[in-house]
Amino acid sequence: MFNKVALVISTLSAFAFSQQVGTLTSETHPPLSIQSCAAGGSCTTESRSVALDSNWRWLHATGNSTNCYDGNTWSSSLCPDPATCASNCALDGADYSSTYGITASGNALTLKFVTKGQYSTNIGSRVYLMQDENNYKMFTLLNKEFTFDVDVSNLPCGLNGALYFVEMPQDGGKSKHSTNKAGAKYGTGYCDAQCPHDIKFIDGEANVNNWAPSPNDTNAGTGQYGTCCSEMDVWEANSVSSAYTPHTCTVNGQTRCSGTDCGDGDNRYGGVCDKDGCDFNSYRQGDKTFYGPGFSGVDTNSKFTVVTQFITSNGQDSGTLSEIRRFYVQNGKTVANSYSTFSGLSDYNSISEEYCTAQKELFGDTNSFQERGGLPTMGDALGRGMVLVLSLWDDHAVNMLWLDSDYPTDGDASKPGISRGTCSTSSGKPTDVEANSPNASVIYSNIKYGALNSTFTQ
Ligand SMILES: *[C@@H]1O[C@H](CO)[C@@H](O)[C@H](O)[C@H]1NC(C)=O
Ligand SMILES: *[C@@H]1O[C@H](CO)[C@@H](O)[C@H](O)[C@H]1NC(C)=O
Ligand SMILES: *[C@@H]1O[C@H](CO)[C@@H](O)[C@H](O)[C@H]1NC(C)=O
Ligand SMILES: *[C@@H]1O[C@H](CO)[C@@H](O)[C@H](O)[C@H]1NC(C)=O
Repeated sequence: MFNKVALVISTLSAFAFSQQVGTLTSETHPPLSIQSCAAGGSCTTESRSVALDSNWRWLHATGNSTNCYDGNTWSSSLCPDPATCASNCALDGADYSSTYGITASGNALTLKFVTKGQYSTNIGSRVYLMQDENNYKMFTLLNKEFTFDVDVSNLPCGLNGALYFVEMPQDGGKSKHSTNKAGAKYGTGYCDAQCPHDIKFIDGEANVNNWAPSPNDTNAGTGQYGTCCSEMDVWEANSVSSAYTPHTCTVNGQTRCSGTDCGDGDNRYGGVCDKDGCDFNSYRQGDKTFYGPGFSGVDTNSKFTVVTQFITSNGQDSGTLSEIRRFYVQNGKTVANSYSTFSGLSDYNSISEEYCTAQKELFGDTNSFQERGGLPTMGDALGRGMVLVLSLWDDHAVNMLWLDSDYPTDGDASKPGISRGTCSTSSGKPTDVEANSPNASVIYSNIKYGALNSTFTQ
């Protein structure tokens, strides 16, 4: 995961001098209903909402409209150091629809790719499901299933409509870090297994030390610190390819990293988190006709349902995570996940320890997943509780080729594991997709969670 940030300048009306929460735009979370289901299939509607991540928000002086952060640089006067910056600057409310292209209606959430506002152009977005105005909803999914509908028909090569869980703090870190006055209401506290360095505030401090503006992203940069936590990618997809991937960490909950712990660059396998994960991408597993536009398994030209089951060894919530199963439902028909076509892997259409080991071995990949505890450790995080993330992004690092093309691009595409989708190795450049597919969008709807087999019919 890499994160995009938009500069936003709002029209000024009134100022509130509250530290670190701006009130130039009032913060109103778009409402989204979801359902909780019990064994047997009876479901109860929950009225929830979503909050935009803090990185996308306008950050300005607490008492006026001077930017604390503009494009990909910090104000040197307002942000000379992490603590001063945190006390000088306020995160403001978001105009979800006109600035960020985020709209919700009933049980459906639409994220639009490029939104040209009056003062800014926004690229992609990342929102979190709320329990109430000041807290994220914590999902505990061990021995449970999670289901949603998705429309990826308007997501071309290079884009990723992602639905996933990360072990963020329920209040966004507000109670633990007294200098964070904004909290979950303003989308603070993000972390994931890539230990991203582009997060502007971590642990209540601005990430200004050694900040380096990105050479190829006018809205982003990287600071000294990263923010790590376990991540369960339930869905990373466009109309061409899709993957689901657990990523484990040796740390429990959101943890700030610096130095080798972040696993940066050549030290990818030396950090606290497993950046590769153990993925299941049908195309990468050799079934090239299962998922795609007009395809026989899942036709990405129209909406479908994605079911993910977190199976435990003893069939109890207290058990050890042993398998992550996937089903699809489209046009009233349940479709089992595709099987791998590779010899030694052809018994597998789900993620288990044995699948992960066999896959890493065949593909010649480092098994950093198992080295950091594998499925049992992923299960521990799922048991403690994780936050639901819904996002749409493009990839300034490697053009999303790891999802939908041949990657590494100089690898032998006939070798198992290299080909991940039909997109060209020259596709997915952010400048191209932002210019050519600004109206791309993803729609997530009909979110349900609960007992195994309660949200769909097999
Ligand atoms: C905005 O407020 C900051 C202090 O928070 C101050 O240094 C700066 O001069 C102010 N800018 C304007 C334009 O008033
Ligand atoms: C963009 O810049 C980042 C460093 O911020 C670098 O890792 C990445 O390879 C660059 N991507 C491209 C496509 O040039
Ligand atoms: C995107 O949508 C807008 C508004 O509907 C339209 O004016 C524009 O031509 C579209 N752009 C592209 C590249 O399709
Ligand atoms: C769910 O359905 C599958 C297939 O019918 C069955 O094997 C499994 O035991 C069921 N699990 C539960 C908890 O009902």
